[in-house]
Amino acid sequence: MTSASTSPDQPNAQQIEEWNGRVGERWVLHQDRLDRMLAPMSAAVLSAAALKSGEQVLDIGCGCGATTLEAARILGPNGHVTGVDISDPMVKRARERATAAKIDATFNVADAATYHFKAAQFDAMISRFGVMFFDNPPAAFANIRASLKATGRMAFVCWRSMPENDWLGAPLKAAMPFLPPMEKTEPGAPGPFAFADRDRLNGILSEAGFRSIRIEAHDEGLTMGTSANGDAVDDALVQAMEIGPLSRMLAKQPDDIRQTARTAVREALLDYVTPQGVVMSGAVWIVTAKA
Ligand SMILES: C[S@@+](CC[C@H](N)C(=O)[O-])C[C@H]1O[C@@H](n2cnc3c(N)ncnc32)[C@H](O)[C@@H]1O
Repeated sequence: MTSASTSPDQPNAQQIEEWNGRVGERWVLHQDRLDRMLAPMSAAVLSAAALKSGEQVLDIGCGCGATTLEAARILGPNGHVTGVDISDPMVKRARERATAAKIDATFNVADAATYHFKAAQFDAMISRFGVMFFDNPPAAFANIRASLKATGRMAFVCWRSMPENDWLGAPLKAAMPFLPPMEKTEPGAPGPFAFADRDRLNGILSEAGFRSIRIEAHDEGLTMGTSANGDAVDDALVQAMEIGPLSRMLAKQPDDIRQTARTAVREALLDYVTPQGVVMSGAVWIVTAKA
């Protein structure tokens, strides 16, 4: 399968551009720390998926492959997992990790919303934060559903609202006074918080044809920084400045504003210091459904 292209008229063009540009590069650069921080979310989604040895599994928005590789270990030699993602650099990292771990998984650079999957081939679809970026979510989920067997199931994790997720919201709030006003985004627009509204999410999945939909709130303290390699607050600051909506806004700012914002964000992170490091609230929906 070839790389996802970036014609402005194609579906999800903006996301394809971002995840093949600065955003995707940042996720590759910080893959280790993101995987450490998000490990409890992987555990939650894999537990909800209840994968069985020998199954055929699809990992949507697999990124650098953390859940793909974990799923492959569960499925064993008679099962198989396919990761699909629009980001060339992230899939490249996923392939390198699979090779290094001697894991036989397939990775495709493709848009899961429109890709012509072979019908009814997967027992389960999983995703760790890879399904909130579709321009047309009902159509995308219908496309994914068609790739599941009639007995197939889906389990994914997505963020609840920004105010419930201090790990993204608190750094942004601290930096806001020093930044130009944020562009207004429509509620539900593609992005990390697209599925914050539970009823809307339920409606999207119903429209796509899923049944037995369960959307359950789950909360975790996310470890943004530890003192393993120095100061925990400075460690958390790297991530606060590099990942998420604040990072996107700061990318367009001059150095002096970035520096002022950095100082304000560092100050805000001090409120989250615990004996385990800088721990901030992460609030998600664990979603399961039948095809
Ligand atoms: C927040 S990252 C999560 C990555 C990975 N699942 C993880 O947890 O580390 C979102 C991922 O979804 C991918 N993505 C966004 N839109 C997509 C689409 N339409 N089809 C496939 N992947 C998509 C991005 O490229 C990115 O890798």
